[in-house]
Amino acid sequence: MAKTVQTASGKIEALQQESRAEIKSIADPDALEEFRVKWLGRKGILTDVLRSVSKAPPEERAALGKAANQVKATLLEEIEAKKIEFDANKGKVKHATATSAASFSTTATATVDFSLPGRVPPRGHLHLITQVTDEIVDIFSELGYQVATGPDIETEYYNFDSLNTPQDHPARDSHDTFYVKPGDVLRTHTSPLQMRVMEKVKPPVAVIAPGRVYRVDYDASHSPMFFQIEGLLVDEGVTFADLKGTLHHFIHKLFGKDVKLRFRPHFFPFTEPSAEVDILWTAKDRNTGETKSQWLEILGCGMVHPEVFRSAGYDYERYSGFAFGLGIDRIAMVKHSIPNIHYLFENDLRFLEQF
Ligand code: DAH
Repeated sequence: MAKTVQTASGKIEALQQESRAEIKSIADPDALEEFRVKWLGRKGILTDVLRSVSKAPPEERAALGKAANQVKATLLEEIEAKKIEFDANKGKVKHATATSAASFSTTATATVDFSLPGRVPPRGHLHLITQVTDEIVDIFSELGYQVATGPDIETEYYNFDSLNTPQDHPARDSHDTFYVKPGDVLRTHTSPLQMRVMEKVKPPVAVIAPGRVYRVDYDASHSPMFFQIEGLLVDEGVTFADLKGTLHHFIHKLFGKDVKLRFRPHFFPFTEPSAEVDILWTAKDRNTGETKSQWLEILGCGMVHPEVFRSAGYDYERYSGFAFGLGIDRIAMVKHSIPNIHYLFENDLRFLEQF
């Protein structure tokens, strides 16, 4: 009895050795499939053996079945290992022709090419105008200024009257100002914030007020909507020297400490004396590539007019102050050599992504 088992299991062992030797020499997926059919297919050698187990004497069945199933399991494992090996090699060939990289892993995980650069998901960022606004606000925040905001639709009182603008001032003309309805305008500057702030708080005052402003204007350097930032500082004993010192600090922080600036006498109804500030800016000419320096006007400023203090209910004998206003778009354009203001508002990502 034992002898039969020995013979039967001996046969199984022989089959195992034979199949193992055979699979070792298999070099391509087609041959592997042939091999699988030959051994494990419906009429396969091992399938036959497994079938014959049921015909063996009952006392031998268990041992035979176990041995045959073990061979089958081993064969399946080896077939699987070969498949993975073939797949990996496929990856290797593809990879090598694509990038001619020298080293490549041939382990089971090699079909995932870890050397490929990852896919970077697109990522948004703040609009250039917002970036420049934040930069300016940060500079003044460090000096103790607080941020104030006000409405885009403003009364003529805040936009003009309270700022000492005469009734016949050309800026009031409908050719320059958008009238929403009689008495209400789209604010033409951020200066109304001066009055709105002073009405609410007593000196000392140090505020910075960014926002949209509107004017009837359209060309390469003017847009009907653009951005300004207003500054106001009021206290006892504030002088023009404080204004100059503050703006020097600001400009040097924003444009670099080598930038020269000059104060040019000017006129604004709400400041006296008033000035415009120019910076000596050096940039590469887009067309010729030459670097050239030129004076560029970047802001208006002055000492707050006593009439403005009177409208605010401030004692103009006791307090003095300075104010300034600048175009954020203009600053952005100068800093980044942007030739046309409309690029900032067309929302073309090819442009915006550069900043
Ligand atoms: N509001 C002026 C404008 O829109 C700019 C300006 C000039 C603001 C002088 C000021 C200032 O506060 O003092 O052109």
